[in-house]
Amino acid sequence: MIFNRLTGLDIGTAPTYMIPENIKVADAPVRYPFLWNASIQDYTQWPGFSPNGNRLLGLARNIGEVYGVFAQFHPKKAASGLLNMNYIAENSANFAGLNGQEELIMKLAAPKWPFALNKKLAAAGAKVFNKPDPNADNLSCADCHGIKDGEFRSFSEKTWATPIVDVGTDSKEIGLLGYEVKTGVMQGATILPTDEPLKSVDKAISVLARASEGAIIQHYFPIVLTTPGQVGIDLLAQLTADFGTAVSSVEQDLGGFGTLEDLLGFSDGANASADNADATTPSYAYESRVLEGVWAVAPYLHNGSVPTLAELLTPAKDRVATFKIGSAYDIKKRWLSNHTN
Ligand code: HEC
Repeated sequence: MIFNRLTGLDIGTAPTYMIPENIKVADAPVRYPFLWNASIQDYTQWPGFSPNGNRLLGLARNIGEVYGVFAQFHPKKAASGLLNMNYIAENSANFAGLNGQEELIMKLAAPKWPFALNKKLAAAGAKVFNKPDPNADNLSCADCHGIKDGEFRSFSEKTWATPIVDVGTDSKEIGLLGYEVKTGVMQGATILPTDEPLKSVDKAISVLARASEGAIIQHYFPIVLTTPGQVGIDLLAQLTADFGTAVSSVEQDLGGFGTLEDLLGFSDGANASADNADATTPSYAYESRVLEGVWAVAPYLHNGSVPTLAELLTPAKDRVATFKIGSAYDIKKRWLSNHTN
């Protein structure tokens, strides 16, 4: 959806801005991930290509998301400035609003089980959760889904490990990370002077990463980037050094905001995923999240293909092939049922 919107409707030339050939059939279904704990995960997005753990990384992810839905966005070529592009002249993304929303998400907690708890069953389940499985490299559920410290990103915000593992689910979402598109007005775009410029046909995810990073840099550094004569590595060094301070002066309350290097890590993750999607033997790895509150988020897996937790713990070949969902939680079957079911 984001690739179709950004590369099909936003980056062509005026007045239509369209590049219809970039729009592909939507055939990689994913379900909305639950948001509690999202900001403390080590990586986000189902394939885990988006590093997480500070405000800036959250902002990069949320700008990309808003390009895919509500934002009015048309990047333009610019004759001057480090990026030689203008990503903010026509960009309705509300940076302060997105920061505010991320702050709210950080406060969300998993919903508590609201029904009577069967302590005996819960204790039996805890045993299963922690028991190594000889058929799965002796890993327990807790090895992949338990709470463990993630990568160090800053002293102020810690993360939980989010192992990205291929457990044999479907390949569609990973496959589309390798999609190539016409890059329209973004052909030649770079963020760092050392970046390879976007080719006339290039990865959709590279277009998305540059459009997000470029807008964030220009939003927080409008003056530096229009000063004539300041180009190349010197400016980059200055940008890197000034990033935190400059950003804090624009936005209030940005403890743990992150650095320019963090921001650029967003596209490193995206590129690695795109390379993997193109490899001869790609891995279809998705994130294994901490499962707090998972009772409330049926249907399961990144593609929403499994209706209940009981079905998820049944061998794939024995699961129902089709089912209807609704919005009422059915406490017996433990799923979101359709009232008429
Ligand atoms: C080797 C790592 C690994 C082990 C061991 C493992 N899982 Fe998972 N689990 C994953 C991954 C990866 C996914 C996401 C797959 C996808 O969405 O395509 C997942 C998905 C899930 C989900 C769905 C989450 C959601 O939001 O839809 C549940 C529930 C789950 N696992 C429970 C368990 C339980 C219970 C066990 C032990 C019996 C277990 N897992 C063992 C890696 C693992």
